[in-house]
Amino acid sequence: MNEFSPAPLLEVNDLRVSFQALRGVARSHVQAVRGVSFSLERGSILGIVGESGSGKSVSTQAVPGLLPASADVSGSVKYAGKELLGLSAEEMREYRGRKIGMIFQEPGRSYDPLQNMASVFLETLRNSNPAVRGEEAAAKAAALLAETGLPNGRERLANFPHQFSGGQLQRIGIALALAQNCELLIADEPTTALDVTIQKQIVELLRELRKSRQISIIFISHDIDLVADISDRIMVMYGGMVMESADSPAIASAPRHPYTKSLIAASPRFGSHYSRERLVPIPGKVTDPARPEPGCPFAPRCARARDECAAAVPELAPLSGAHGDSVSAGGPAHLIRCALNGGGLWQ
Ligand SMILES: Nc1ncnc2c1ncn2[C@@H]1O[C@H](COP(=O)(O)OP(=O)(O)O)[C@@H](O)[C@H]1O
Ligand SMILES: [Mg+2]
Repeated sequence: MNEFSPAPLLEVNDLRVSFQALRGVARSHVQAVRGVSFSLERGSILGIVGESGSGKSVSTQAVPGLLPASADVSGSVKYAGKELLGLSAEEMREYRGRKIGMIFQEPGRSYDPLQNMASVFLETLRNSNPAVRGEEAAAKAAALLAETGLPNGRERLANFPHQFSGGQLQRIGIALALAQNCELLIADEPTTALDVTIQKQIVELLRELRKSRQISIIFISHDIDLVADISDRIMVMYGGMVMESADSPAIASAPRHPYTKSLIAASPRFGSHYSRERLVPIPGKVTDPARPEPGCPFAPRCARARDECAAAVPELAPLSGAHGDSVSAGGPAHLIRCALNGGGLWQ
């Protein structure tokens, strides 16, 4: 590391999360995240995509220490060079909800229905400046609401959560993160509950904020179309692991992992490039993290699987051969976890 290559804002290394869960009367060991590594540069947007249950939420909730006490977490999460795993609640306070803001799929659920927005903003602004007065907080809140695209912010501060639409609540959630001057925003399926037009507006807003405020964003969705729209880099997860990771254009136009290809073939926008007739749903059931197979978690659903795929999990490795050279030249690597990598079996 030298002065010309500052440390990434976030570096996650070999993150593993498991839960002891009760299923009926049986206890099971759920391996939700099985060795996830990634880094996030300042001012950039990382998209995480994968079907439900792939470990997207658990791996990102581990970052600001949001997992329940029942979670067994190991590995490393470094924020601006500082290890966050193992910090006390007191030490974590500087990060969770402050440097690291979060918005979720159901924006309404994080609010007290009996608290109006003026009071929500006042409370939030007082986290960083206990001396802030009501009038000053209201002016600041209105400015933040304007910045996040909610007009008449001053009047709307009198309103309660149920008086806002889902899209408006998502804008308010973003404004609250900005109120704390967050540097990293983790957006976990923030548009999944919204209709398509509003989805696009929220994505546009996040893109603008990245530019105007230089914030870094982790954008999580099961929808690869949406993730490709907003992200600089995409990480494809399945079975608690990273299956493929590359710059967005490489994932969208030249996906390599059979799982990524399946996600794309099943997507409304990209799917039509691959199959003119119809979208191709991914066959089979999502892998059960309580019963992990020894091999690649996608192998049971993969049309290209060979015997060795069921035997051991392949390493996450740079794309080999001619494709890899052309994709990764100069930029961050195109990584893939697949036994077909390097086997000359891409065609
Ligand atoms: N608190 C928990 N206890 C037990 N299992 C959990 C818990 N939270 C998540 N899981 C399991 O971990 C796996 C990954 O979950 P999650 O990260 O939420 O997936 P995604 O966000 O990709 O849909 C799932 O199988 C889920 O059921
Ligand atoms: Mg999730």
